[in-house]
Amino acid sequence: MIADIQLPASLKVGAGARFALPDMLSVLGAQRPFIIADPIMQELGVVDTFVAMLNEKQIPSAVFANVMPEPDDSSIVAAVESVKQHNADCLIALGGGSAIDSAKAIALLASHGGQMRDYKVPHVVTQQSIPIIAVPTTAGTGSECTRVTVISDSASHEKMLCMGPGLMPKAAIIDYELTLTVPFRVAADTGIDALTHAIEAWVSKKANPFSDQQAMSAMRLIAPNLLKACKTPEDHEAKEAVMLGATMAGIAFSNASVALVHGMSRPLGVHFHVPHGMSNAMLLPTVTQYSLEAAPQRYAACAQIMGLIDDSADIKACHEALMVFLNKLNQELGVPAMSEFGIDKVHYDSITALMAEQAIASGSPANNPLVPEKDALIALYQQAYR
Ligand SMILES: [Fe+2]
Repeated sequence: MIADIQLPASLKVGAGARFALPDMLSVLGAQRPFIIADPIMQELGVVDTFVAMLNEKQIPSAVFANVMPEPDDSSIVAAVESVKQHNADCLIALGGGSAIDSAKAIALLASHGGQMRDYKVPHVVTQQSIPIIAVPTTAGTGSECTRVTVISDSASHEKMLCMGPGLMPKAAIIDYELTLTVPFRVAADTGIDALTHAIEAWVSKKANPFSDQQAMSAMRLIAPNLLKACKTPEDHEAKEAVMLGATMAGIAFSNASVALVHGMSRPLGVHFHVPHGMSNAMLLPTVTQYSLEAAPQRYAACAQIMGLIDDSADIKACHEALMVFLNKLNQELGVPAMSEFGIDKVHYDSITALMAEQAIASGSPANNPLVPEKDALIALYQQAYR
């Protein structure tokens, strides 16, 4: 198999990497950058520090800081117009996955027109758009290194997966210092999202020797550090490890794919407004238990790579260790049961068939080691609720 690997052309990684932004713009030949940011980044004054940094180098910038969480196509309309009016030659995506995913969609529509639904899978986005420098402020989605964006359709509420080389940021700044003030809940949800990316890329049917190396490194970095990074945010070492792990997990899944957890997670997010990482966390133990038998060696290796068990342990012991870890992680990170989150069981039961269909349509479950039919998917949704 020949793996088709795509990455940003430039990555600046490490404490203080954000200060390289003006240089990165100059390498890209960009003179009219446009910052797409999370509102919280503006409230915290981070956007102002970026604008000031650019002003110091005589680089005038414009700002759109109304990105919505779990963005839909209506939320980016105003930004597309502003980017066109500004005649922007580079977008700086500053924030979590929502800001970076929004920036990808904004760059695409500002450059090529149309609606986001025109670009959803199975369409492949090959057109190059206004270049993006992604500056993640959470350690999670890995969107800074992926050829993927997820934008909801405001009419149908479908979470549209859009993929293709044209969605890869040109450059990314991986500066863990930007994550030091992230609230516990966000750090926990995004961290489990990243761990899920690594595990799913590792067990994916599209896994390849390149993505395997990234997935292994990501699991090694995230698993032993995630709790510390969430509970003691002043622990720079843990924060740095999880940030780097999240980026590597993004590279892994972008070059291998996610699988059943993500396939089932998107409908849960759409219908019940569960944050993306949290809905992954709600599903990860159930889906892992279900899938173990189809890739016993790979899942056993997960436990060993994460340092949960000795290399000499047998497969069954490795599987047990992995399941104990995933369940305990959810407990320690306060991931609520679906009922605790407020998901009404009657409503849930009434749409599990629909969610199963939407999960299958996304294509992600087909990459899972064990591919469920619709009935099995419905049963998995039921099991995950309990
Ligand atoms: Fe994800």
